Amino acid sequence: MTDSVRTRVAIIGAGPAGLLLSHLLANAGIDSIVLDSRSREEIETTIRAGILEQGTVEILDESGASDRVRTAGHRHDGIELRFAGEGHRIDFAALVGRGVWLYPQHEVLKDLIATRLAAGQDLRFGVTADHVEGVETDRPRVLATDAAGNAIEIDAEFVVGADGSRSVARAAVTGSSTGGYFREYPFAWFGILTEAPPSAPELIYSNSPHGFALISQRSATVQRMYLQCDPELDPNSMSERQIWDALQASVDGHDLLEGPIFQRDVLRFRSFVAHQLLRGRVALIGDAAHTVPPTGAKGMNLAVADVVLLNKALQALLLEDDSRLLEAFPEQALQRIWKAQHFSWWMTSMLHVAPDASDFDRLRQLGELRTVVESESGRRYLAEAYTGWPLAGR
Ligand code: PHB
Repeated sequence: MTDSVRTRVAIIGAGPAGLLLSHLLANAGIDSIVLDSRSREEIETTIRAGILEQGTVEILDESGASDRVRTAGHRHDGIELRFAGEGHRIDFAALVGRGVWLYPQHEVLKDLIATRLAAGQDLRFGVTADHVEGVETDRPRVLATDAAGNAIEIDAEFVVGADGSRSVARAAVTGSSTGGYFREYPFAWFGILTEAPPSAPELIYSNSPHGFALISQRSATVQRMYLQCDPELDPNSMSERQIWDALQASVDGHDLLEGPIFQRDVLRFRSFVAHQLLRGRVALIGDAAHTVPPTGAKGMNLAVADVVLLNKALQALLLEDDSRLLEAFPEQALQRIWKAQHFSWWMTSMLHVAPDASDFDRLRQLGELRTVVESESGRRYLAEAYTGWPLAGR
């Protein structure tokens, strides 16, 4: 027995992209169903990045999606770039008059889920999308299976694949589940959570002969830190002492406040852009459409930028029967996606030490870092990109 349901927009994936889109569509009077193979608990507890662009914060706040982002989040007006044993502040406020917010992605997800459920959103956890059909018709369908093994057919006017890097919807749009442009990196991040006070007022991105480290934060008592590592590293193979020694060496002269480490993970790096973002009445957004390496924290922010554009395009399509914004969606979204791809790749390559780096490569890299911090134009480019370019479609 297949349970059939109808909606205007079927959204696969209850991550930031899918949930925010359902919220903005609902504000415009457009119903949707959101499904995700994961449980609510898994979505709300998986640790992700923590930096929101100013435009992301404005949308979450103004749309009523999260009223905690401004009260529980912390505004940061700059970052420190560290290399050759010295710190250099990039002063966002002075350079571009903008800032970023430290507010972990899983907190954004908790807010979005609570907001959507309170508004009566049809939000289904533990439901796995298997297939998207009728892509080039006016009634595309999502065939899915719930946790008990029952088949569900969602009959919609539009389907959105917001289902992350292992997207099921991608095959319906690009013709293959892997179809896209991509690049792998010969390193990964070893991430930890530690119970300790902050080691610095702002984030530190550090390049050293030992590799890259990022000193981020979570709260007054919990800190998030990352260390460049081999992608094959077993996170449990290092003792706490070894981890702290490696972190201290990688920040090269800045003393880190140590504490017990209570969480460890290895984050693999990848740059990816799907060959196509739209086919007929199915669109890809967020990690289903693109993945960036985490240096610069563009992942969720880029997902929000996709949502802003697609929301406008779907309102025109479904409320006014006007498909022009939808037709323009891929090209418009891709302009920002490739700028963010470049920025994430650039921050990554400028700060990490590739395993096969020669002396020439190392010294050139220091020259590059100096070029950026000693030039107001260099610092301003970094500040513009990090705090986020203006959002098209707002
Ligand atoms: C984090 O806090 O998890 C974080 C911050 C900045 C990044 C990446 C991750 O560039």
